[in-house]
Amino acid sequence: MPLLDELGRLSGVFLAVLLRFTFQGAHCELVVSPAGPTQVNAIVGSNLTLAVSFSGAPDPVVIWLMGDLPVVTWTIGSSVPPDIPENMRKVLKVEQNGSLTFVNVSLGFASNYTVKMTKSGVGNAVLSFTLKVFENIQNVTLSTQPDFAKEGTDLFILQYSMLQGVVEHQMWFFNDIPIKTNSHYLMEPRSLVILRPNRSDAGQYTVLLTNPFSSVTTHINVTVLYGPDEPVLEAHPAQPFYVAEDSLSLSCHAEGFPQPTVQWDFGGQMLSDTHKGVLNLTNVRTSQGGIYTCTVLNEKTKEKRQKSTNLNVYETPSGNPMCSVGSVSNVNLQYHCQWPGGTPQAMLSFPELSNTSSGTGNFSLTVPASDNLNRQTVTCLADHPVEQKNCSITASSPAQFLSAVRTTHDSEGKIVVTIYCVSDASPKAVVSWSRDSGAITSGTAYQISSDTTQLMMVDYNVSNFLLQNYTCTCRNPLGSQSREIQLQGPSVSNSILFPNQDGTVVTLTWEIPPTSIVTGFDIQMKGPDLLSTNHTGIQTRGSSDGYRTIQQKPGSARSTDIFGLEPKLTYQFRVIPRANMTEGVPSVVHIVGPGMENCSTECV
Ligand SMILES: *[C@@H]1O[C@H](CO)[C@@H](O)[C@H](O)[C@H]1NC(C)=O
Ligand SMILES: *[C@@H]1O[C@H](CO)[C@@H](O)[C@H](O)[C@H]1NC(C)=O
Ligand SMILES: *[C@@H]1O[C@H](CO)[C@@H](O)[C@H](O)[C@H]1NC(C)=O
Ligand SMILES: *[C@@H]1O[C@H](CO)[C@@H](O)[C@H](O)[C@H]1NC(C)=O
Ligand SMILES: *[C@@H]1O[C@H](CO)[C@@H](O)[C@H](O)[C@H]1NC(C)=O
Ligand SMILES: *[C@@H]1O[C@H](CO)[C@@H](O)[C@H](O)[C@H]1NC(C)=O
Ligand SMILES: *[C@@H]1O[C@H](CO)[C@@H](O)[C@H](O)[C@H]1NC(C)=O
Ligand SMILES: *[C@@H]1O[C@H](CO)[C@@H](O)[C@H](O)[C@H]1NC(C)=O
Ligand SMILES: *[C@@H]1O[C@H](CO)[C@@H](O)[C@H](O)[C@H]1NC(C)=O
Ligand SMILES: *[C@@H]1O[C@H](CO)[C@@H](O)[C@H](O)[C@H]1NC(C)=O
Ligand SMILES: *[C@@H]1O[C@H](CO)[C@@H](O)[C@H](O)[C@H]1NC(C)=O
Ligand SMILES: *[C@@H]1O[C@H](CO)[C@@H](O)[C@H](O)[C@H]1NC(C)=O
Repeated sequence: MPLLDELGRLSGVFLAVLLRFTFQGAHCELVVSPAGPTQVNAIVGSNLTLAVSFSGAPDPVVIWLMGDLPVVTWTIGSSVPPDIPENMRKVLKVEQNGSLTFVNVSLGFASNYTVKMTKSGVGNAVLSFTLKVFENIQNVTLSTQPDFAKEGTDLFILQYSMLQGVVEHQMWFFNDIPIKTNSHYLMEPRSLVILRPNRSDAGQYTVLLTNPFSSVTTHINVTVLYGPDEPVLEAHPAQPFYVAEDSLSLSCHAEGFPQPTVQWDFGGQMLSDTHKGVLNLTNVRTSQGGIYTCTVLNEKTKEKRQKSTNLNVYETPSGNPMCSVGSVSNVNLQYHCQWPGGTPQAMLSFPELSNTSSGTGNFSLTVPASDNLNRQTVTCLADHPVEQKNCSITASSPAQFLSAVRTTHDSEGKIVVTIYCVSDASPKAVVSWSRDSGAITSGTAYQISSDTTQLMMVDYNVSNFLLQNYTCTCRNPLGSQSREIQLQGPSVSNSILFPNQDGTVVTLTWEIPPTSIVTGFDIQMKGPDLLSTNHTGIQTRGSSDGYRTIQQKPGSARSTDIFGLEPKLTYQFRVIPRANMTEGVPSVVHIVGPGMENCSTECV
C-alpha cells in the first residue's frame, strides 16, 4: 500500500500541521490523541490496549501498523469485520473507538505501532505507540569461558544464560562494586569480558538482570590461576658458607594459585625428605656442598620455574701447615709450604717473597738466594675460608762447626777412619771434601756418605792417614763454611783418677783430641799386684818396677774401674792409646796410695 507508506513517512508533518490548525481554532479537522501511555510495557500473556480517542469526523477508516506492516484495517462502525491477518486474529482486536487491544500478548508483538485515521474529505490523523513485551527472568546461570581464568591470557569471559526472560538492563559487580566499561572490562550483550586478567581479578562476580517485571541477581566465584612467581630461596641461618657438621635448612617458596608444589634436586637426584619446600640438612658433609635446584610447579597450569643456589660446605685441612726450605742446584732457595686436604684447599703463599704467586696443597716458590734471606724468617700464609694459619721457616747459611773423627776396624782388620763434618744450615748443607792434592771423590780409597757429611778412609797403616790434611766445605745457596782437619796419631788428653772412699777401687777416665786416631787403649799399672782376680781385662804379671798392662779397652772407652787395691800400698796407673800396632804417647801417670791423696795428675 504505497499510499499508506507515504502517509507513514509524512505522519509527523501531518500531525504538526493538524495541531496548528487545532490551536488556531479550525473546525471539522480529524484529530486522534492518546487515551493512555504511548510507551507501554506488558508481560507475556497479559491483555492490554493501545488506547486512542478521535474527534473531528465520524467513522473514519482506522489502520494500525506494526512497524511498517498494517495489521488492522477497519472502518469504524462498519458491519464489515476488521481486516486482520489470520495468524494475529487471536491476539489483536480493534475497539469501536479505534483503540487496539491485545489478548494473551506474546513476545512477537513487541514493536512500534502507528495508528492512522482517514476520513475522505476531512483528512488524516496519525499517532505512534511503542509496545515492549517482557517475560519474567528465570533460572539465570553464570558460566565462564574458559573454565578458569589464567593470569597472562588475553581475555576471560563471564556470560549468563537463562531459561527464559527478556532483559532490559544488565549490571555487573565485582565483590559488590559496580563494574564500568574501561580498558580492563568490556560489556557485551550477554557477557562481561575481562581483558588481560590477573590475580587481582579473583573474587565474586554478580550480574543483576532487570526488566520492568522482574530482576534477578546471580553470583559466581572466579579463581584466577597464576604463578608460580619467581621462587625465593633462603638458607637458615644465612651464611656465605657452612662448616662440615653444621646444620641448616634451605627453603624454597613461590607465589601461585593453586599453591605451587616444591621439589629440590641435588646432583641430579630428587630429594624426597622435604616438607613444604624446606630441606633440612643436619650435620652436613662436604660432599653435600654444591648446586641445589628448586623447581616450583603449578599443578593446574603445569607452569614451572627453577632457581638454584650454591651451598658451600667447607672443612679445614687437618693438622697445621708445614714450612721447609730446600735448595735447587745449590744456587736457588726453594721455599715449601704444605697443608694438604680440606675443602676447598687452602691457598698458600709467601707474601714476603711474592704477592703474586700462590698455590694449594703443596706449594713451593723458588727464589734466588740472597743475603737478605739469610736468617730471615719467612712466613707462609695458609688461607682457608674457615681458618687462617701460618708457618715459618728461616733459611740460614752453614754455621761454624767442629769436625769429629771416629776410628773402627773393618772385617779384614784394616783401620777405618771416618771424618764427620756436620754444620747447622737450612737448607741442609752439602759437604765437599778435598785434601792437599785436590778434590776427593768417592771410590775405593775414599767413600763419601750419601748425605756427604762423612768421609771414610781405610788403611792398615796409621801413618798413611797422617800424611794429608783434609778440608771439608759445607755449602748451601746462602754460603759456605770450611774446616781443615789434620789427623793425629793415637793420643790421650785430660785423664783423671778417682779413688773410692776406702781406697780399694779407682776409676780412671780420659779423653782424646777430636782428630786423634785411636782404636783401643792399654791400661797399665806399676806397683804391687792387685788382691782380687775380679777384673775384666788381662792381667799381666811383671816386676813391680815396670809398667804392665792390666786391662785393654776398645777405642770407644773413656773410663775404667780398677779393683782390688790395698789402701796401705801405693800404685801408679797410665793409659796408652793405640791404633792397632801403633802406640801413641802415654797419658800422664796417676799415683794412688799413702801420702798421695793430695797429689795432682802431675805427680809422677
Ligand atoms: C484476557 O481477555 C480474555 C478474553 O477477554 C480473557 O478470557 C482473559 O481472562 C483475560 N486475561 C487476563 C489476564 O485478564
Ligand atoms: C475505547 O473502548 C474501550 C473498550 O470498549 C474502552 O475500554 C476504552 O475506555 C475506550 N476509550 C475511550 C477514550 O473512550
Ligand atoms: C496464550 O498464547 C500462548 C502462545 O502465544 C498459548 O500457548 C497459550 O495457550 C495462550 N493462552 C490462552 C489462555 O489462550
Ligand atoms: C521504534 O521507534 C524508535 C524510534 O522512533 C526506534 O528507535 C526503535 O528501533 C523502533 N522499534 C522497533 C521495534 O522497530
Ligand atoms: C528453574 O528454577 C526453579 C526455581 O528457581 C526450579 O524449580 C526449576 O527446576 C528450574 N528450572 C530449570 C530448567 O532449571
Ligand atoms: C591486575 O590488573 C589490574 C588492571 O589491569 C591492575 O590495576 C593491577 O595492578 C594488576 N595486578 C597485578 C597484581 O598485576
Ligand atoms: C563465593 O565466595 C564467598 C566468600 O568467598 C562465599 O561466601 C560464597 O558462598 C561463594 N559463592 C559460591 C557460589 O561459591
Ligand atoms: C626441619 O626442621 C624443623 C625445625 O628443626 C622442623 O620443624 C621441620 O619439621 C623439619 N623438616 C623436615 C622435613 O624434617
Ligand atoms: C707486591 O708487594 C710489593 C711490596 O710489598 C708492592 O710494591 C707491589 O706493588 C705488590 N704487587 C702487587 C701485584 O700487589
Ligand atoms: C788391628 O786390631 C784389631 C783389633 O784389635 C784386629 O782385629 C786386627 O787384626 C788388627 N789389624 C792389624 C793389621 O794388626
Ligand atoms: C797440615 O797443616 C798443618 C797446619 O796447617 C801444617 O803444619 C802441616 O805441615 C800440614 N801437613 C801436611 C802433610 O801438609
Ligand atoms: C767382681 O766382684 C763384684 C762383687 O765383689 C761383683 O759384683 C762383680 O760382678 C765381679 N765382676 C766380675 C767381672 O767378676
